[in-house]
Amino acid sequence: MLRPSQSELGPLNSVLDPLQSVLGPLETILGPFQSVLGPLESLLGLLRPVLGLLQSMLDPLESVPGSLESGLGPMQSVLGPLEFVLGPLQSLLGLLEQNRGAFKKQASLKLWHCTFSSTGYAKSCEGSRMAVEGHALEFCLAKEADFEEVMSISGDVYGGLDYLPVRYHAWIRDPARRVILAKKKGQIVALISVNIVDDGHTAVVEGLRVAPLERGKGIAGFIQSYCLDLARAQFPDVKVRRYTRAGQLAPETLAKFRLICKQEILCTQFKAEYILPKLEAAIAQLKESGAEWKHPILLGATDVKRVFLSPKVVDEVLPGKTIIQDWAPYQPLESNLEKLVRQDLIWMADDKEEPRVVSLGTAPYRVPLGTGYHRLNIDIFGKHFPRVRNQFLAQVQQRVGTLKGPVYCILYFEPSLWQDMLSFCQTALGLHVDGELRIQNLLEADM
Ligand SMILES: CC(C)(COP(=O)(O)OP(=O)(O)OC[C@H]1O[C@@H](n2cnc3c(N)ncnc32)[C@H](O)[C@@H]1OP(=O)(O)O)[C@@H](O)C(=O)NCCC(=O)NCCS
Repeated sequence: MLRPSQSELGPLNSVLDPLQSVLGPLETILGPFQSVLGPLESLLGLLRPVLGLLQSMLDPLESVPGSLESGLGPMQSVLGPLEFVLGPLQSLLGLLEQNRGAFKKQASLKLWHCTFSSTGYAKSCEGSRMAVEGHALEFCLAKEADFEEVMSISGDVYGGLDYLPVRYHAWIRDPARRVILAKKKGQIVALISVNIVDDGHTAVVEGLRVAPLERGKGIAGFIQSYCLDLARAQFPDVKVRRYTRAGQLAPETLAKFRLICKQEILCTQFKAEYILPKLEAAIAQLKESGAEWKHPILLGATDVKRVFLSPKVVDEVLPGKTIIQDWAPYQPLESNLEKLVRQDLIWMADDKEEPRVVSLGTAPYRVPLGTGYHRLNIDIFGKHFPRVRNQFLAQVQQRVGTLKGPVYCILYFEPSLWQDMLSFCQTALGLHVDGELRIQNLLEADM
């Protein structure tokens, strides 16, 4: 590993410190530009081929005398408005590109600075590069075109239940998110993402993966440091960072974070066609036996906000006062709910006025586990077993009607209900429960 000496660091830091103070305000100005750049680029990308096509029609006309005038009329009516839009767009894009260059330089400087002065684990090369175990790592923002290469390092992630294949493109386009790649000799070796939520106060770190042959070399740590530096530079209001991690956590991990809450995880697989009659039979049985069956209430957008923001739900129902949606944690804030209700989620409560159990079901999505496999995530909050069970049944029922084939269902709920939920799934529904993945931990640390 290359380490800079103190005599190398001193002069460098004295140059970098004043630069940092100039670049801070620049960063605040550039933040909003960054978020419009992506959509503008895609719009331009769409308009350019249209213009190219029109131009190629125009060229032959120009070489035949007389035909230009007659062919031009109808084309001008299309070209006119197009040029009207394209001109200003192109100049705006040029301006943004220039600022982006300045911004990137700033982010790199910041990274160099913290690498040299605080940890000393690496020596920078140029741009946002560092030497790790003798190999240069380069960091950059992921692009849509990197999709295939990212997938090629993701084959074994989460045992075939990876969500990234279906979320990748939306993540790239999301202005509140940064997706970062680490490259070695131009090849992608790691990915991480940071999503800014909670009115800009929280950075949620997600999607981390390192190429199988590159694991165990510290790359996960390096890409996380880069990602956090970038988030600090681009979103200065962020106060804390949050992570959701599965399984028992090592004491070293717990020492670095505050454990906000834990949810139990129950994984089971079934064929959509098989489970529907089973659900109906189980519900009929519960109704007959008087085992507290009451159909949960489906919530619309207005009710979602009222129920999920009510002090009773926040204080007594949500684990760690947090809404966790398919591993993504959100504080119960109007702005978060505004975003969440725009997604295809099924929201339920046992009661609108006195809710004790609430849940949200994520739209099933395809996963690499096998042909036709869908992953179905159901997050349930609350400690009352019969009502948690009722929402599990109602959520599955609501979704599987529209599905065919194998479903990998992941249910998250209050840990003290594990035994009751396990025996209900096994006996009343005849399901096999996969016991490998058990605990979901929500961790937090200061930025
Ligand atoms: C987990 C994984 C990313 C670790 O990569 P790695 O480069 O081999 O990790 P290393 O042991 O060399 O690096 C250790 C660093 O990674 C961090 N790390 C290890 N496991 C992690 C995990 N599950 N989530 C987040 N960070 C993790 C460690 O905290 C450590 O950081 P630190 O040095 O700041 O303390 C890698 O094994 C992988 O891609 N697995 C498949 C995908 C996956 O399970 N991702 C976890 C998402 S929660």
